[in-house]
Amino acid sequence: MKIKEVKINFLEYEDDQELSQEEQNLLGEAFKSVEKSYAPYSEFHVGAAVLLENGVVVTGSNQENAAYPSGLCAERVAIFYANSQYPGVKITALAVRAKADHFHVNNPITPCGSCRQVIVETEHRQKEKIKIIMKGETGPVHVVSGIEALLPFTFYEAKLKKKS
Ligand code: THU
Repeated sequence: MKIKEVKINFLEYEDDQELSQEEQNLLGEAFKSVEKSYAPYSEFHVGAAVLLENGVVVTGSNQENAAYPSGLCAERVAIFYANSQYPGVKITALAVRAKADHFHVNNPITPCGSCRQVIVETEHRQKEKIKIIMKGETGPVHVVSGIEALLPFTFYEAKLKKKS
């Protein structure tokens, strides 16, 4: 038996000014999108912004439902919208921000497990990693260069695709 280790790394920025202009813009777009969230049940508002290789930015926010599981996270709203409006155009980066009605979000918000799985599929589909930029309302920014850092041992099986 061997003990093996998986190492992940992420960048932490105390100040947004250290980020590239493109990254700052994407975080700004995600933050604007927080205001478009529909979250009367959790009162937790999430905004996401994806940057496409053609320079277009697509945003999304969490959309809840009285039948709770029918709602969808901001990240998947943005990714699915981008993939449906711009099929074949790669997503290069994703920014996520959040605000809560009853507490202050001062730590980076990270995509949930289901969103991570959707990001895995998107990376495989486009054969390119997606940089993920995460911030709360305030506080530090965390950046990972691809989904593997957030979801090691990803489930993906190319042979499941009937045609590839
Ligand atoms: N949510 C997101 O939109 N993205 C995440 O990464 C985490 C959670 C939403 C789902 C739900 O509407 C609310 O936040 C509380 O979980």
